[in-house]
Amino acid sequence: MCGIVGYIGHRDAYPIIIKGLQRLEYRGYDSAGIALYDGKDINLSKTKGKVEDLKNKSQKSISLEGKLGIGHTRWATHGVPNDVNSHPHYSNSGDLVIIHNGIIENYDSLKKELIKRGYTFSSETDTEVLVNLIEEVKRKEGVKLGKAVQIALNQVVGAYAIAVFDKQKPDEIVVAKLGSPLAIGVGENEFFIASDASPFIEFTNNAIYLEDEEMAVIRLGKEIKLRKIKDDAIAYPSIQELKLNLEEIEKGGFDHFMLKEIYEQPRAILDTYRGRLLAKEGIIKMAGIDDNLEKFLNANRIIIVACGTSWHAGLVAEYIFEDLARIPVEVEYASEFRYRNPVITDKDVLIAISQSGETADTLAAIKLAKEKGAFVFGVCNVVGSSIARETDAGAYTHAGPEIGVASTKAFTTQITVLTLLALKLAKEKGIFNNTRFHEHLTELENIPAKVEKALLTNPLVEIIADVYKNSTNCLYLGRGYNFPVALEGALKLKEISYIHAEGYPAAEMKHGPIALIDEHMPVVVIATNKGHYEKVVSNIQEIKSRKGKIIAVVTEGDEQVRDLADHVIEIPETLESLTPLLTTIPLQLLSYHIAVMRGCNVDQPRNLAKSVTVE
Ligand code: F6R
Repeated sequence: MCGIVGYIGHRDAYPIIIKGLQRLEYRGYDSAGIALYDGKDINLSKTKGKVEDLKNKSQKSISLEGKLGIGHTRWATHGVPNDVNSHPHYSNSGDLVIIHNGIIENYDSLKKELIKRGYTFSSETDTEVLVNLIEEVKRKEGVKLGKAVQIALNQVVGAYAIAVFDKQKPDEIVVAKLGSPLAIGVGENEFFIASDASPFIEFTNNAIYLEDEEMAVIRLGKEIKLRKIKDDAIAYPSIQELKLNLEEIEKGGFDHFMLKEIYEQPRAILDTYRGRLLAKEGIIKMAGIDDNLEKFLNANRIIIVACGTSWHAGLVAEYIFEDLARIPVEVEYASEFRYRNPVITDKDVLIAISQSGETADTLAAIKLAKEKGAFVFGVCNVVGSSIARETDAGAYTHAGPEIGVASTKAFTTQITVLTLLALKLAKEKGIFNNTRFHEHLTELENIPAKVEKALLTNPLVEIIADVYKNSTNCLYLGRGYNFPVALEGALKLKEISYIHAEGYPAAEMKHGPIALIDEHMPVVVIATNKGHYEKVVSNIQEIKSRKGKIIAVVTEGDEQVRDLADHVIEIPETLESLTPLLTTIPLQLLSYHIAVMRGCNVDQPRNLAKSVTVE
């Protein structure tokens, strides 16, 4: 959470930083700030609110000149969102200025120590403590900024990606990373700093991703040298060539990123299996799996760890792995798993699922499983992310950048990767013969076209959204493969429209939630024709007899549910294991339209951030 941007070079820093912050706003958006060095002084502007508010304020209040600057968009951890707590933060002398993404856990004891030495603080933040600690080290030890940052960070417990500069030495920015992401864009005698590459992709394709516990002094006219924060050892940066496309991070004619990303799913799913799924040849080729096949085949069980929507994809995978490949699976919230002393052995395979590849709890769960000897496989979207680097092997989803805070295409592409993996294992284990294998491969290949068809429900879904936009509660029900889809549908609705919603296994309804049903309660029921269709129809009857309003997602041509439900949304027929890839589409659209109609900020819902890099 929090986005950081910095620039040092020959261009005006202001427009680069403001645009960069707008691209990083998905990471946090409760306040924003910028500090520019104009050749003499630091000009700083910050405000509660969005980057747009910062733009308005800064244009009225400070000089926008300068070829050196840093900026920040915040997701509050210490201290409420207000102007004072916003970053950047000055040190007491006014010479140093810092931006920080992360949490300094021992900030309170450090602060008390600094207060004893005469330091004062205007904000409630841990970051202001850090910048003053750096200043104190610099003063006391008589060292340069880079060294002072290193010594200070060795006294800090927590997570950080920081950028700091000194107005007495305005030809350098010092950066450091532990736990939060930090990329350096390397141009012609200019450098960019950012939480991900999107702020600088139009200027350079060359990026260095700092590893944990690394820092760098970025100086104009000098090559970048990375150092280990702990022992000062030199680390040699590898410059990666980025393939990110600028258009992919723009809205492309859609009103919101979320809608654009919902509509990108046919392409994203296709990109995810492209080159991996060779239906005609009857082959699934995935290097991360092919090289580690024995680990999967000899595993006692698979443990899946993830958070939020990625956890829901993990639940779908539980059904897929157990049903198709007959491998026992446990799915865990990463945040619970890491703290409950789990039994893990070297016969376990742990699959970590994460869109961002930066989720702190998932990362910690991976480290724990590795310590205990498990083989760890990652399913990530963001290339080069911390989780992608920390895992023993993995497979990327090729969803492209997901900017809307509510996850959509990440979910369906994660399921696609996990389906490929399960099918491969089913074949290798001899559970699937050639015919069954071929049937599944061919049908998976048909999914993008069927998602296109499911997207045609959009106008109908919009009409349904209009009927229920003022509801205060909503139930989502599904069984088997579609129980996790019900959970995901409910999560989508609550996170972007702030309507209370619950997902349940349909049969579980009579053990409690049925008490909620009356004529005001919309109930979204997934009732596709495979699996437990008749049982779900009985559940629909139960809702109807209590006057609940039924919105049913059914297979095209369905007659039975049509007679019972208030609204019917048809999706194309497919294999049972692949239905989540289709049933989820109208649920994404429903939450989208309801949120828009309620005037909610769809892409940046309140209190949320795209990548949760704190626990
Ligand atoms: C919901 C959503 C979150 C994320 C969760 C995990 O729409 O986006 O629930 O799924 O924070 O994030 P990743 O997948 O980046 O680890």
